[in-house]
Amino acid sequence: MNFASDNIVGASRPVLDALVAANEGAEGAYGTDRATKAAIERLGALFERDCAIQLVATGTAANALALSALVPPYGAALCHVEAHVMEDECGAPEFFAGGMKLLGLPGAGGKIAPRTLADYLAALPRHEKQMPPRALTLSQATEYGLVYTPSEIAALCEVAHEAGLKVHMDGARFANALVSLNVTPAEMTWKLGIDVLTFGATKNGCLAAEAVIFFDPALAEAMPYLRKRSGHTLSKGRLLGAQLEGYLGNDHWLDNARHANAMAARLAEGVAALPGARLAVPREANEVFPVLPRETVERLRAAGAVFHPWSERSLPEGERIAPHEMLVRLVASFATTEAQIEAFLQAAKG
Ligand SMILES: Cc1ncc(COP(=O)(O)O)c(C=O)c1O
Repeated sequence: MNFASDNIVGASRPVLDALVAANEGAEGAYGTDRATKAAIERLGALFERDCAIQLVATGTAANALALSALVPPYGAALCHVEAHVMEDECGAPEFFAGGMKLLGLPGAGGKIAPRTLADYLAALPRHEKQMPPRALTLSQATEYGLVYTPSEIAALCEVAHEAGLKVHMDGARFANALVSLNVTPAEMTWKLGIDVLTFGATKNGCLAAEAVIFFDPALAEAMPYLRKRSGHTLSKGRLLGAQLEGYLGNDHWLDNARHANAMAARLAEGVAALPGARLAVPREANEVFPVLPRETVERLRAAGAVFHPWSERSLPEGERIAPHEMLVRLVASFATTEAQIEAFLQAAKG
């Protein structure tokens, strides 16, 4: 009954099999191996475009490197005030970019509204005393499990581009958002104006593998150097390439995401029906954010269930958590089973 996150499980079987297969024999180092070349080719085909692609082992490195390629040390990147880059990366984007600043915008459910972005940019002082904004970064899905729709992404990209900003997408849960929208990878990214993507794979079946994808290769000129000098170029690069080969082959990544989302839907339905419970935000991908009576939370914990309390700072208007209630996050993964969900629901009922 561990619903703490989608990184609490190991790798899925095809990813492990690909790693074991790639383990044999001599291969070029530093990403010149066959598995890495094949994974990069596969990603290019998936996104239907010539891209510059670099593989790294963590989402924090992917986000920080992507932003450091887009923003100079004296510039700023805009994000949601509760974005992972802002709250959960220990300043890595600012560190990697040599002093760049993150500026947080509000928004219900972790989403930035195009109007909020436009007003913020219009009100920002333009003076050499202020750091000029050079990038916008969006989390897809958001830190409250919501999925930006294609029209929301397009509108945000339009506002950002008009103001001279590039747009980065933190796709730690890219696959979960993609299958939720039922669009193609291109239709959720560059066709809407996204310039750079962190293509997350760790949470959805890999052990540790993410791709930083630049849809305009000219923007990636500094990336090989930035990655190497930050210590994120693996000498045995096949470890990353092989994971992505296993992950992307036979649409395994999409199957994993569909399964995680379906399990989250089942969980959402079950917890919303518990006495005194409700969902604080709709379930759209693989995360569920119920408001539970504290006594239900205690009963669950006593039964051994694992999950995190969640921030109440960006709830939809009108949603108030009473003193006897708690907002929690439940995350389903590719490995979540119906039996785990049933056990959780039974434990909640007592
Ligand atoms: C929205 C988001 N971005 C990025 C990450 C990647 O972080 P990590 O460096 O732990 O792989 C996470 C993981 O929790 C996340 O939730």
